[in-house]
Amino acid sequence: MLKILTIIGARPQIIKAAAISRAIKADYQDRIKEIILHTGQHYDDNMSQVFFDEMGIPAANYNLNVGSGSHGKQTAAMIEGIEAVIEKEKPAYLVLYGDTNSTLAGAVAAVKMGVPVAHIEAGLRSFNKSMPEEINRITCDHCSNLLFSPTEAGVANLGREGFTIEANPPYSIDHPGVFHCGDVMYDNALHFADIAEAKSEILKQYGLRSGEFILATIHRNNNTDIKERLRAIFSAMLEISVDHKEKILLPLHPRTLKMLDAQLGEQMMQDLRSCEGIIIIPPVSFLEMIMLEKHTSMIMTDSGGVQKESYFHRKPCIILRSETEWVEIVEQGSAIIADADQTKIMSAYVHLKQNPPVHFPALYGDGKAAWFILDKLLTSLE
Ligand code: UD1
Ligand code: UDP
Repeated sequence: MLKILTIIGARPQIIKAAAISRAIKADYQDRIKEIILHTGQHYDDNMSQVFFDEMGIPAANYNLNVGSGSHGKQTAAMIEGIEAVIEKEKPAYLVLYGDTNSTLAGAVAAVKMGVPVAHIEAGLRSFNKSMPEEINRITCDHCSNLLFSPTEAGVANLGREGFTIEANPPYSIDHPGVFHCGDVMYDNALHFADIAEAKSEILKQYGLRSGEFILATIHRNNNTDIKERLRAIFSAMLEISVDHKEKILLPLHPRTLKMLDAQLGEQMMQDLRSCEGIIIIPPVSFLEMIMLEKHTSMIMTDSGGVQKESYFHRKPCIILRSETEWVEIVEQGSAIIADADQTKIMSAYVHLKQNPPVHFPALYGDGKAAWFILDKLLTSLE
């Protein structure tokens, strides 16, 4: 029996982990035992528990309850807690997702204890090291024995950093395996699409009609923490809603909600409150999110996951960042990088409205990335 220790902590990781847990339950129960450690990086029910309940993720075996804090404080507490659990559980692999501080902490704890790391979502790069996520993902990749990249671009990035793409087993930290495996989030999108249609009432709840609203999310630190950027994004949303008569639904990350008054100022907050077309709501569940993505006319986001889901659900997307790790959706023309720049956001909006993308070739696998990953985990130790 292969024992793996999965580290999760932030919303997108909990969602990604659902795909692996589901595949283990379906086909690997007799060969793989998964222990789940939640760092507690995200802790509000609508940022964490809702995904366990709705997506059938087994309850975490450990919760470090680290909560929010500075990068150093938060990451240090996680490293200490993860180290203790590794000591106790002695897993064959530490499984890490994405690029958050929980990912970084897992990588550092494991590599120092000689425990092999499997990194799911390896190889992605923004080439912007002022992003905390870029540091986290580079560090994690270089601490890993098995690197699972969802995209060809990710594999190419690893090649440029000196990883051997066709490496043969046995793998080690100095001779890691790199695999192009597809995206576990695409697995989830396929698995939950019909379930969302059957179960979610969110369109009714907010009086939304299919194809007649824009879905927006904002949480990236350089958007929430830099006044001019957040103001530019909200100015564009107000312009789109008021001048173009669009309804915009904005399930807001708690980080952004906490910054809104201070960053936007009194006048813009007043404009926002009196703008009937912009509906700000708390974070929604994954099924609700899928439902919104399936029925929106367009997505505006700075989220990595939501950008990609725009492609899964064949929707145009305005990327509220200066670059993206998901370069292939920009190359396909379904997404436009508009940064936090009101003029660029407006021209992206007009362009995508007039030229809705129609070609969405398969870029993210076949919906079985989790099976591929689990097979590799099993065979890598043979
Ligand atoms: C983190 C990740 C980011 C990821 C995002 C997904 C890092 C460095 N960043 O950013 O890559 O895209 O998660 O959502 O790991 N808060 C709450 N309740 C919660 C969680 C957070 O109110 O349950 C508030 C707190 O004020 C906290 C702030 O959000 O200080 C930021 O949370 P944190 O986990 O540090 O970073 P995120 O911005 O969520
Ligand atoms: N998501 C969700 N509810 C929300 C906002 C996002 O379920 O209110 C999901 C979204 O569908 C995607 C994931 O959360 O699967 C993305 O997480 P987030 O935007 O927090 O982080 P990122 O992907 O940018 O790291």
